[in-house]
Amino acid sequence: MRLAQTALMAACLGRLVSSQKVISLVGNDWTVHNDNLNISVPARLPSHVHLDLFENQVIGDPYYGLNEFNLRWVVWNNWTYTSAPISGLSTNASTWLQFNGLDTFTSISFCGKHVANTNNQFRQWWYDVSHLLVNCAEKDRILDINFGSAPLIANAIADEPGQETWPYGVQQVYEFTNRWFIRKEQSDFGWDWGPAFAPAGPWQPAYVIQLKANEIHVRNSVVDIYRKNQLNNLPPDQSQPWVVNASMDYFGQLPADPTLCYTVTDANNKTIASGALDHVNYTDSTITGMTTIANDKVDLWWPSQLGPQTLYRLTVDVTSKTDHLASITKRVGFRTIVLNESPISPKQLAQGIAPGNNWHFEVNGHEFYAKGSNFIPPDAFWPRVTVEKMDQLLNSVVDGNQNMLRVWASGAYSPDFLYDLADEKGILLWSEFEFGDALYPVNPDFLDNVREEAEYNVRRVNHHPSLALWAGGNELENLELGILVNQTAPEELPKYTAEYEELFLNVLLPAVFGNSKSISYAPSSTSNGWASLNFSNTIPIIERYFNLTLGSIYGETDFYNYDPVVLYNDSALPVGRFSNEFGYHSMPSLQSWRSQISERDLSFNSSTVFLRDHHFPPGNLNTSNYDNSSIGQAQMTESVEMWYPKPYKTDSIANFSAWCHATQIFQADLYKFEIEFYRRGSGLPERQLGSLYWQLEDIWVAPTWAGIEYDGRWKILHYTAKDIYEHVIISPHFDRATGNLSAWVTSDLWESVKGKASFAWFDWNGKQLDIKTPSCVDFEVGAINSTRVLQTNTTEILNGHDLNNALLRLTVEADGKLPNSETTQKFRHENWFHPAALKDAKLVDPGLEISYSDSTKKFSVEATKGVASWVWLDYPTGTVLNFHSNAFWLVPGEKKEIGYIVKSDTTNGGWIEGVTVQSLWNQTQNE
Ligand SMILES: *[C@@H]1O[C@H](CO)[C@@H](O)[C@H](O)[C@H]1NC(C)=O
Ligand SMILES: *[C@@H]1O[C@H](CO)[C@@H](O)[C@H](O)[C@H]1NC(C)=O
Ligand SMILES: *[C@@H]1O[C@H](CO)[C@@H](O)[C@H](O)[C@H]1NC(C)=O
Ligand SMILES: *[C@@H]1O[C@H](CO)[C@@H](O)[C@H](O)[C@H]1NC(C)=O
Ligand SMILES: *[C@@H]1O[C@H](CO)[C@@H](O)[C@H](O)[C@H]1NC(C)=O
Ligand SMILES: *[C@@H]1O[C@H](CO)[C@@H](O)[C@H](O)[C@H]1NC(C)=O
Repeated sequence: MRLAQTALMAACLGRLVSSQKVISLVGNDWTVHNDNLNISVPARLPSHVHLDLFENQVIGDPYYGLNEFNLRWVVWNNWTYTSAPISGLSTNASTWLQFNGLDTFTSISFCGKHVANTNNQFRQWWYDVSHLLVNCAEKDRILDINFGSAPLIANAIADEPGQETWPYGVQQVYEFTNRWFIRKEQSDFGWDWGPAFAPAGPWQPAYVIQLKANEIHVRNSVVDIYRKNQLNNLPPDQSQPWVVNASMDYFGQLPADPTLCYTVTDANNKTIASGALDHVNYTDSTITGMTTIANDKVDLWWPSQLGPQTLYRLTVDVTSKTDHLASITKRVGFRTIVLNESPISPKQLAQGIAPGNNWHFEVNGHEFYAKGSNFIPPDAFWPRVTVEKMDQLLNSVVDGNQNMLRVWASGAYSPDFLYDLADEKGILLWSEFEFGDALYPVNPDFLDNVREEAEYNVRRVNHHPSLALWAGGNELENLELGILVNQTAPEELPKYTAEYEELFLNVLLPAVFGNSKSISYAPSSTSNGWASLNFSNTIPIIERYFNLTLGSIYGETDFYNYDPVVLYNDSALPVGRFSNEFGYHSMPSLQSWRSQISERDLSFNSSTVFLRDHHFPPGNLNTSNYDNSSIGQAQMTESVEMWYPKPYKTDSIANFSAWCHATQIFQADLYKFEIEFYRRGSGLPERQLGSLYWQLEDIWVAPTWAGIEYDGRWKILHYTAKDIYEHVIISPHFDRATGNLSAWVTSDLWESVKGKASFAWFDWNGKQLDIKTPSCVDFEVGAINSTRVLQTNTTEILNGHDLNNALLRLTVEADGKLPNSETTQKFRHENWFHPAALKDAKLVDPGLEISYSDSTKKFSVEATKGVASWVWLDYPTGTVLNFHSNAFWLVPGEKKEIGYIVKSDTTNGGWIEGVTVQSLWNQTQNE
């Protein structure tokens, strides 16, 4: 025993280099062609057909004008990617092709001979082609990948005899139909915020790999780091040591009795643990081993603003008695993250929490308030999504005080680089399998295909500390089953529920639990959570569905109501433990519109603007379907008309811009109000512990729910969300019917904080009003809790005052500590309350002045004549930046200094000259 151990340790010391040959097919040595159409152009890998056609000027910019519709012909055709002859291959080795992603239906040939067909965008594919190389001359070592038309193939599958059907109205159709039959990004078929290009192409890297006898190639691997005895979905014992489990998927010939050696190094490359993995076992396709690491050897990884993002590097080497066979290196973090859905405990009941079940996240054993938004595909064409662009976007997430993104279920599984960036910045990624707003077939071929896709992706990304959850799909339980099937064909609910469970419990759950003990699984967002969790059952989860007890609270909520009357009326909002989606659409800025539509289309109801509004989706491919988009356009108009001054500028472009701006003010105001409501709930019986609004960013330029436009420019929403996601906030709560007005301080810090809340009434001229409200209140608010600091009634206190000329400024100042920090710091937040709608307000010209200081690199804004509301600093095109603060209010005599972060700039600093400032007052002017 002792000898064997010494031998193993010895094997772990040497780091020999393995001789396997990996030839990357990434690059521009490709051609894409369609011989019937007589088109053949240079191409890249990775790519999509649209991108290569655009680059070679066969088509115009797919995002421009109405090209989404004009380019449908691209989608209806097959396209072949052909490589240059692949050089450097030897014939005395086994030869493999490995594709990390093909979108979607292909027929692959090598050396002119058929290799295989593929039918899933999300799987990795690998093939032994040794036999094809034997009699293949160097000039014929060519790879052809023929891509079929995904919409045509989806339709053909739908038409197969005996194919599954669903009641009318259950399957949500955006543009192309039948997306649920195929494993391709579901939003490629259209969605209510994006275009429908259904692109085809080799969207991920590909390789040729040559192996000699007794060599292997690792094509994928999983590293799982968890607390000893940890079980998915259950809070683990934080005093237990860490278990590190590593498993590699390989092809080739594994020699007998391999050894797995590991090294963990810290950020300074200091080795903190190393040795041989235990319990090594292997099959003809995987090799697995594990070890434990003592608690005190490593520091924890935390999300942004909750502690440091400590990362380590884990290397695992596979060696035989004589050779080094393979090596993987992954950057990892030590943390536990659990979605806790367990029943409310007696201790929680005693804290005033309503009975039912929890539904919140815990990081390293701590509850925290999840603040964030929903991430959608950042482009219709993933191959042009760059690390730089995602780095900028995720910086905006952190700058916006967000700590979690829900990576929504009907795009694509995120690339590793996105998780890498999130690991570094401390952004938790609630990740989802790609199923949404439809029910799915459950025939064995479909399920097998999904199983492979799920195994591959679960294993690929599990090591990232930012991975927070796997959820099965979007809006399945509460919407698809609970409402759509339940209402249209209630007698069929048992059948469709059983099918749903087949896919989301019997196939996807084992893909997670079989590969990871560190990550929780929930079959659907949104749902009422599990009714029971029992690991002695093969499938541990039994879902609750609508088996609810009155007075109890369960699960997560989503909320959409396009009646603008919901603003300032929270009786419409859902009371739950967590909110994963809510929102209202708005127009992008004039600057963004100009980048994708022509000057003559710049008006609110031009046909181009109309047809780029996919809310509500057309539901078909009709290119002149104005009916549904007119509803979405009207909702934005109504929301402005109900609450804010209506722009009426004579200059048509200025008027368009002012209208776009007005829709953004409504959007920001509504989300702020909703987030205040959810955060206040952290101290109410619902113990609400998260709000993720819909949606973080845009896929193109169009009216959508996004807070960040396609090029990275922040809409008003992202600034307002940044403000209302500060740790300590003050917010008004008003009941229009009774006049009851209260104010609340909410904190998401992990220790209680003490401070002062102040109240001051003004008229629009900035004169302080003598209204009976305490001017200053001392308060203490507990950890992740909220407390009422004012309770009054406007009918009483505003008696005799003009409601259209009375404004309340609420300010909070508190001392507290950030989680995992020893330093006490000051937290300050300000909010405004106006009893009447701003459209009726007695706005005055606030006399805004702006200046810039070269020495401090800050703008200075002052209201010289009156109160300025929704003060907005704007900047020209050519630059992407964000100000540290925007969309704020100012009272006369106060100066606000505003810094900024430049994310990209083509104006060589010239943008500073182009910065403008305006407030709501400007919306009332014809200038
Ligand atoms: C188009 O592609 C599909 C899928 O690979 C294939 O089945 C079909 O035969 C192709 N058609 C042509 C004309 O190449
Ligand atoms: C650690 O090693 C990596 C890879 O060899 C290197 O890129 C990095 O600069 C090193 N870091 C430090 C702090 O030495
Ligand atoms: C293989 O190793 C893994 C991890 O070390 C372990 O969970 C599993 O039970 C082992 N399988 C066998 C057949 O020993
Ligand atoms: C929130 O604070 C209130 C008032 O101090 C307290 O009664 C309640 O138990 C706290 N809630 C939690 C979950 O700690
Ligand atoms: C069907 O919908 C009704 C009304 O919303 C609800 O009360 C009931 O629980 C639902 N049933 C199921 C099984 O989802
Ligand atoms: C509903 O839930 C209760 C306990 O939460 C359970 O005892 C009961 O069996 C469930 N009913 C159904 C129809 O699933």
